[in-house]
Amino acid sequence: MISKKSAQAINTQINREFFSAFLYLAMAKDATAKGFKGAANWFTIQFKEEQEHALRFAKYLEDQGAKVVLAAMDAPKTEWADLLEMFKDALAHENKVTAWIGELAALAAAEKDFATQNMLQWFINEQVEEESNAHDVIWMLEMSAGSKGALFMADKQLGKRGRS
Ligand code: FEO
Repeated sequence: MISKKSAQAINTQINREFFSAFLYLAMAKDATAKGFKGAANWFTIQFKEEQEHALRFAKYLEDQGAKVVLAAMDAPKTEWADLLEMFKDALAHENKVTAWIGELAALAAAEKDFATQNMLQWFINEQVEEESNAHDVIWMLEMSAGSKGALFMADKQLGKRGRS
C-alpha cells in the first residue's frame, strides 16, 4: 500500500513526464520547421519515450490501488536559436527530471516503501542514459560548430536513432 503523500508525488511526476513529452514534441516540430529531419526524428522518439515513462508511473500507481489524476500542463517553449541550444535545453530539462526522481526516491526511503524504491530504480538508471544521450549529441554539435557540412552529417546521425 502506497502512502497518500507518495501517490500525490508520483501523480505530479506523471504530469512532468507528459510535459517532457510535450517539450520534446515542440523541439521535434521546431527542428522540422528548420529543416533538420534527423533531429526531428531524435526528438520524436524522445517524445514517445516520455509518454511511456508517464504511463509506466501511472500503471504503478494503479497496481498500488491509487488513482491517477491528470492536471493541466504549462505550454512548452516553441522556438530555439539552433540545434545546440535545443539539446542544451533538453539536457537541462533531464537534469531537473533526475533531481525529481531523486526526491521521489528519498521520500520512498523515508517511508520505508520498498516497492516504490524498487520501481524507481528503473527510472534512476534511465536518467543516467538520458543525460548521457543528450551529452553525446551536444558534444557532436559542438564539434560541428561553424561547418555546414559537419552539421548536415550530425543531423543525418540523429536521424539514425531508433527505439531502444
Ligand atoms: Fe522521463 Fe526524460 O525523463
